[in-house]
Amino acid sequence: MLADIVDLLRCPQCSGVLTLEGGTVGCLSGHRFDMARQGQLNLLRGPAGANADTAAMVADRVAFLRTGHYAPIAELVATAAHGPVVVEAGAGTAYYLDAILSRLASGTTSPVRGIATDISVYACRRAAKLPRIGAVVADTWAGLPIRDGVADTVLSVFAPRNFAEFARICAPDGRVLVVTPLPEHLAEVRRTHRLMTVEEGKHHRLLADAQEWFVHDGHADLRYAIDLQPADLRHLIGMGPNAFHTRAAGTDEPLRTTITVRLDVFRRRHRRTMRDGTQRAV
Ligand SMILES: C[S@@+](CC[C@H](N)C(=O)[O-])C[C@H]1O[C@@H](n2cnc3c(N)ncnc32)[C@H](O)[C@@H]1O
Ligand SMILES: [Zn+2]
Repeated sequence: MLADIVDLLRCPQCSGVLTLEGGTVGCLSGHRFDMARQGQLNLLRGPAGANADTAAMVADRVAFLRTGHYAPIAELVATAAHGPVVVEAGAGTAYYLDAILSRLASGTTSPVRGIATDISVYACRRAAKLPRIGAVVADTWAGLPIRDGVADTVLSVFAPRNFAEFARICAPDGRVLVVTPLPEHLAEVRRTHRLMTVEEGKHHRLLADAQEWFVHDGHADLRYAIDLQPADLRHLIGMGPNAFHTRAAGTDEPLRTTITVRLDVFRRRHRRTMRDGTQRAV
């Protein structure tokens, strides 16, 4: 619920502390943001961009994730996450964040809480329905409206990564978990339906992007096969970036396909102030 996480947020205009009073969130400088009837808070500084998931894509994502085909991915991230505060950036419907918080909550009596951010209002509406989660509409590239050092885990699953921001919101002993597709991920679906392929060299770039702020603490690969029924296939195609480029045509046959994803774990670098006053990552 938003009320439970508002103390972890900051004003997108002035970075001031935010408080919630009578359905309105505001800072001391007078910036005001309305909490939507559905429970999410819009802290976008401008209108949502063209890359925000649409209502139809979000509905397809909900339907696909409900099949459990990606449950092993949720289990993997849940075993690697630490609490009590977990932030998922580009969270979509917050399927993975929900799995993490459920697992953390089952092992403790102290409160665990999560912030789901996404540029899509439709995705945030879904995320806002989940227990222990506050959903915030925000653009990962514009800077996250989250206070410095509050996140024990920052999670990014198939979503844009802004490591400078992840480092800022990460607690000193916090970690970042990133899930990305490996080249063979959904290869049969990509081939049969002529969809976008996973870029070569993507993983190398991920490590390079992170290294100024984070130490790479290893990775875990997951590989398994799933049998997609025609409806699953339509939802899978409809929920992804391909939905912007293609219509799901000819999806009448069940299809066996491979799931191959990588979880990378990053630990925050500590910075030491040198004698000449400069800072160096250690
Ligand atoms: C492939 S989906 C992944 C969603 C979720 N992590 C999952 O795996 O179910 C990518 C998500 O990133 C969101 N997104 C795209 N660009 C974004 C941005 N600049 N800032 C925040 N979210 C963004 C989309 O709206 C979408 O929900
Ligand atoms: Zn403000």
